[in-house]
Amino acid sequence: MHLLINTGGGDAPGLNAVIRAVTLSALRRGFRVTGVRRGYSGLLEPGGTFALDRDLVRGITDRGGTLLGTVNRGQPFEYPVPGPNGETVLTDVSDQVLARYRELGADGLIAVGGDGSLRIAARFREKGMNVITVPKTIDNDLGSTDTSFGFDSAMSFATDAIGRLHSTAEAHSRVMVVELMGRYAGWLALHAGLAGAAHVILLPEIDFDIELVCRSIRHRFDTDRPFAIVVVAEGTKPKGGDRIVARQELGKEVTLGGVGAQVAEAIAERTQLETRSLVLGHLQRGGTPTPNDRVLALRYGAEAVRLAAAGQWGRTVCWRPPRMTSMPLADALGLEHRVELDDDALQTARDFGICVGDA
Ligand code: F6P
Repeated sequence: MHLLINTGGGDAPGLNAVIRAVTLSALRRGFRVTGVRRGYSGLLEPGGTFALDRDLVRGITDRGGTLLGTVNRGQPFEYPVPGPNGETVLTDVSDQVLARYRELGADGLIAVGGDGSLRIAARFREKGMNVITVPKTIDNDLGSTDTSFGFDSAMSFATDAIGRLHSTAEAHSRVMVVELMGRYAGWLALHAGLAGAAHVILLPEIDFDIELVCRSIRHRFDTDRPFAIVVVAEGTKPKGGDRIVARQELGKEVTLGGVGAQVAEAIAERTQLETRSLVLGHLQRGGTPTPNDRVLALRYGAEAVRLAAAGQWGRTVCWRPPRMTSMPLADALGLEHRVELDDDALQTARDFGICVGDA
């Protein structure tokens, strides 16, 4: 059997561990594995693929990033191509991708990625490609799986960063506002906020009332300790307001960002407290995966090869503790994983008196 593997969307710690697991499990079965560079781009460009062997995947379990490279724009069904007047035209180049896949004599593709990659894989499945997907995201927003690899690493880094803010906030009697990633899901902010003992945690799932946020900070300064840590997820919006889009590029989902600075400004203005803000940004995606993420990623990769070996194409691997299992791609499409209002971790925050923007 000849398997292709690619990684798509934003990188997440653990991608290299998946690549290693897929390569080793496949080679051990006598299969051939070819890496495709930068999502599907490697199937459109000369030199875009290379054979994966034991040497190439040696010692990469703990490495961040991805050996294969990745892209989160220019998916094959809407590929940016220069138009006749120098403009960029989004063009469907999926037939070219499929032709190259066939030319390589591939039996199947293991596509590692988030919701965008899942949608692309499902469309290629409809066109006759044998695909299996492995879910990847630091946002943990995929409904098909309990926890995606990358989340634990991002959460650990954010927790550490929040922890470091305590001493500087206390030293200066300041409010420190820190913006985390997560897109439209509040998992990173909620879990890192709890683990890092934040005093306010704002999530995309709850539109916040700035008056309530300020009241809770004032109350803390007056009755407890004169400093506060506010964690804001990038996809959070104020009551009656809009999400803040940092960038909008052709052929790419919007990039969120900027809400932390706005929240800080509003707090400073309303409370007259000295306030600073920072954005953790891509630091959350960088660096070595945690041991938990390494093991999870290795298990995802190995399960993908077990599915391929069994001819179970058109499926996505799902971690449903205590089992690594799978479901049809079509069923996984659009399944979201958001913080429910009755989520136990959210309730825990409320129980501690942490302000979550609505009380
Ligand atoms: O989905 C992962 C993620 O890091 C999100 O948390 C964030 O909104 C987005 O990717 C950032 O994308 P980019 O790499 O394009 O800045």
